[in-house]
Amino acid sequence: MKPKVLLTRAFQEKPIKYLSEISELTVGSFETNLTKEEIIEKIKGKDALISLLADTIDKDVIDSSPGLKIIANYAVGYNNIDYEYCMEKGIYVTHTPGVLTEATADIAFALLLSVSRRIIESHNFVLEGKFKGWEPNLLLGKEITGKTMGIIGMGRIGKAFARRCKGFGMNILYYSRTRLDEKEEKELGITFKNLNNLLSESDFISLHVPLTKETHHLLNKEKLKLLKKDAILINTSRGAVIDEKYLIKILEEKRIYGAGFDVYEREPFVPEELKKLKNVVLLPHIGSATEETREKMAMMSVKAIEDYFTGKIPQNLIPEWKNKLNG
Ligand code: NAP
Ligand code: GLV
Ligand code: GLV
Repeated sequence: MKPKVLLTRAFQEKPIKYLSEISELTVGSFETNLTKEEIIEKIKGKDALISLLADTIDKDVIDSSPGLKIIANYAVGYNNIDYEYCMEKGIYVTHTPGVLTEATADIAFALLLSVSRRIIESHNFVLEGKFKGWEPNLLLGKEITGKTMGIIGMGRIGKAFARRCKGFGMNILYYSRTRLDEKEEKELGITFKNLNNLLSESDFISLHVPLTKETHHLLNKEKLKLLKKDAILINTSRGAVIDEKYLIKILEEKRIYGAGFDVYEREPFVPEELKKLKNVVLLPHIGSATEETREKMAMMSVKAIEDYFTGKIPQNLIPEWKNKLNG
């Protein structure tokens, strides 16, 4: 008998087609993300779930389907899932590491260039008919080459971002839970710093940590106060890694140069104060949004379901589950 699978929201066509061949598939919605109540309703009687990072998969949801065996999150971040509860109940949780690394590092770099070179302001300037000819002081921004970049979280995306920074001739500092070995630090051209020193010495900061209990408000008021006067902060990790309210305050007061956001503390809510600022670039969480990457993420999620129901352990289990299985 084929497993009963709930895909909360339709993704790319090819992986859906494949999934519908190997399972008894329910697509929760083709148009909008489901509410928690809708997920609770639709998950009843299902063996497997493919969730979006925007879906909250907490105890209420998990307990609505006693037969649930595996949750494949269509994202690398899995802070939307109560994975500890899943592990207690023996429910596998998988994610999509690796396939979105380059696309996400690109978006972080795009944000850095957009803020430092005032791309959105410049585009609007032209649209508003204000371009009257080349000017010595028109829309001057901040130089990238030769500046110091501080990267927080040196995992897959942090490293891909570091490679881009190296290509742009930047001096690169990093802070991460686990320090890399000397050989890798040398190859990437990066120098380890403690968080306070990184924050006070960097011209630009980019965040690449997952959202966990430890990283929630990692950049709190006290840490944000350490930023240089002309600093640019880029966040493509998760909104709640920064105290968003205080960041808005220092942006309003021009205590830093600017910030690039792909993620927000209470998505999809974007504070009105933030939308009023000129020194920010605001994206709607599109780090992994390329046709190529999204298809790979979808296939990876489908493959995890297929593996499980053909007696294999999915390769893309979250690290906590892998550690548990490896004792
Ligand atoms: P990863 O390879 O696991 O890298 C995360 C890094 O953060 C690791 O080096 C990890 O250290 C470090 N870290 C974890 N907890 C920390 C802490 N408390 N303090 C300091 N460093 C800590 O993950 P990834 O694939 O690069 O993805 C990173 C995150 O980016 C995801 O979790 C997701 O939230 C976000 N993301 C966003 C988008 C988007 O669309 N904007 C797209 C993809 C991913 P260890 O080496 O010790 O584990
Ligand atoms: C995107 O934010 C992801 O975690 O994949
Ligand atoms: C600018 O367009 C220049 O030629 O310097």
